[in-house]
Amino acid sequence: MKNSVYMTWAKYHAAARYNLANSGILGCDVADLPLKMDDIQLNGLNHEGYAPLKEAIATKYDVTPDNVVTSQGTSMANFLAMATIIERGDEVLIEQPAYDPLLSALGYLGAGIKRFARRFEDGYRIDSDELKRLITPRTRLIVITSPHNPSGVAVDQETIKQIGELALETGARVLVDEVYRDILFEDAPPVAATLGPQFITTSSLTKSYGLSGLRCGWILCEPKLAERMRRLDDLFGAVGSMPSDTLSVAAFRNLSLLEARTRAMIEPSTELVHQFLRENEDVLECVVPPRSMIVFPRLKKSDDSQRLHDLLRQFDTSIVPGKFFEAPRHFRLGFAVKTEDVAAGLQNLSKALRSA
Ligand SMILES: Cc1ncc(COP(=O)(O)O)c(C=O)c1O
Repeated sequence: MKNSVYMTWAKYHAAARYNLANSGILGCDVADLPLKMDDIQLNGLNHEGYAPLKEAIATKYDVTPDNVVTSQGTSMANFLAMATIIERGDEVLIEQPAYDPLLSALGYLGAGIKRFARRFEDGYRIDSDELKRLITPRTRLIVITSPHNPSGVAVDQETIKQIGELALETGARVLVDEVYRDILFEDAPPVAATLGPQFITTSSLTKSYGLSGLRCGWILCEPKLAERMRRLDDLFGAVGSMPSDTLSVAAFRNLSLLEARTRAMIEPSTELVHQFLRENEDVLECVVPPRSMIVFPRLKKSDDSQRLHDLLRQFDTSIVPGKFFEAPRHFRLGFAVKTEDVAAGLQNLSKALRSA
């Protein structure tokens, strides 16, 4: 398949007055970022990524600029990392449920895909014993998201290290998509790429900072692999966008301001979602991460959330049906938008749950 069914749906069908389908923080307005005209450059040297941007990313995540490859969002970061590492037919282990573009990109690259479960019943933990049983000397890559899309659950550090040890023994790499990491704020663990040369981190300014429009993404990995990725990117993007990269440098300069905006939006909404889940315990069950912008509730009285989704449309409210994550009884609920919109959206959801 040369497409992602989920991404097409997200582009054309997720929008609604009360959008609980979006997994990231509400997009910033220009007013959210103090900018001067001087912050923007139209052209400049950007052959290997814009140096001040690589420096800003490296400083934030405690790596060196040699470890940084810039890319068009986490989306291109993931694709570039996978395309650099795997050849057609190579074995790749990827979590289930998974963010569809990761899975679809692996299919597109012709990987031999094997799945390991992140089970609702286990709180979406990764069972490293299951990975041990699945991994072989032919495994080139293990792919996970942490925090997990769709459940919002972060993989604990002990498990990440165990996965790293397994990968080291067999010569595989571990790709950790950490696009949701920064909303863990002071509880955020070190990025996986700092744990050993087998690890690769991907992320962007999209989900935690509301700057999807900049398409500022990155890969963090060991320098030799980073160099191979830059050479492959000569075929894809060739050079970065200076307006975007210079604005991204300004965003890094103002990161604490953006963090405060994110926190102010997530904290009250989290309270509302917790209350909503308590009030709907008769029809819903949910793994609730200590911090997240998304949850993945399961319907107790129906096998498919599509009907709930369709009903909600009458209230101009959107959620993501679980079928896009291979789990139709579930739905993904995002709540990093304005508190009053989350409140209204959840009220509509309660009503729809009662009539679904
Ligand atoms: C796990 C994961 N990775 C990557 C992305 C895409 O992020 P970006 O906007 O940085 O390309 C998403 C968006 O939903 C995501 O959930």
